[in-house]
Amino acid sequence: MSNAVVIDHPLIQHKLALLRDKDTGPKEFRELANEIATLMAYEVTRDLPLKEVEIETPIKKAKFKMIEGKKLGIVPILRAGLGMLDGVLKLIPTARVGHVGLYRDPETLEAVEYYCKMPTDVSERDLIVVDPMLATGGSASAAISFVKEKDPRSIKLMCLVSAQVGIDRVKKDHPDVEIYTAAIDEKLNDHAYIVPGLGDAGDRLYGTR
Ligand code: PRP
Ligand code: URA
Repeated sequence: MSNAVVIDHPLIQHKLALLRDKDTGPKEFRELANEIATLMAYEVTRDLPLKEVEIETPIKKAKFKMIEGKKLGIVPILRAGLGMLDGVLKLIPTARVGHVGLYRDPETLEAVEYYCKMPTDVSERDLIVVDPMLATGGSASAAISFVKEKDPRSIKLMCLVSAQVGIDRVKKDHPDVEIYTAAIDEKLNDHAYIVPGLGDAGDRLYGTR
């Protein structure tokens, strides 16, 4: 039982395979990460509430459905989460954006927090926390705890590549958070990298090491 929603539309699988390719450079990597995020956001927002509206077409007035002005917030986990932000905003351009800064200590593999800035009305907002990689789950779990201190209405987590152990960690620490991922890979290696994964997402996005 994965405990996560796997969004594996053929277009997503295709783009994710290209993203994983070690020969994909930062420019294409950034484009692909955002394209996949856009496609995933379509599914992650599937439960947005609708309201009935009256619209006059060139033929007649009739009742139709529109989104009920639900307040959303997108929260990239710095820094690699930024690589998905524009893709999500493309689909939800009116969403506010919060930022949560964390890095994974290479020695302890524990997440270290350094920044958290949420939209002013966060308590009225449903948040989508985004990060390409869910490995041990330490970063996502710490980021969600950090964000919860600001008292948002709800939180969803959206990742590109996950390991089952990371999904289990987040679900154990935050059973209320729904997790969406494009893939669940085999395992983690000794450095807690996802196998086969795609390597270090932040470094591949920004051409750093
Ligand atoms: C990566 C990734 C996640 C985290 C996942 O970030 O973007 O935030 O590792 O690993 P975990 O599930 O084991 O915590 P990293 O710490 O490399 O920082 P960066 O985004 O600044 O590159
Ligand atoms: N962080 C990454 O960027 N990649 C992994 O495989 C694991 C953690």
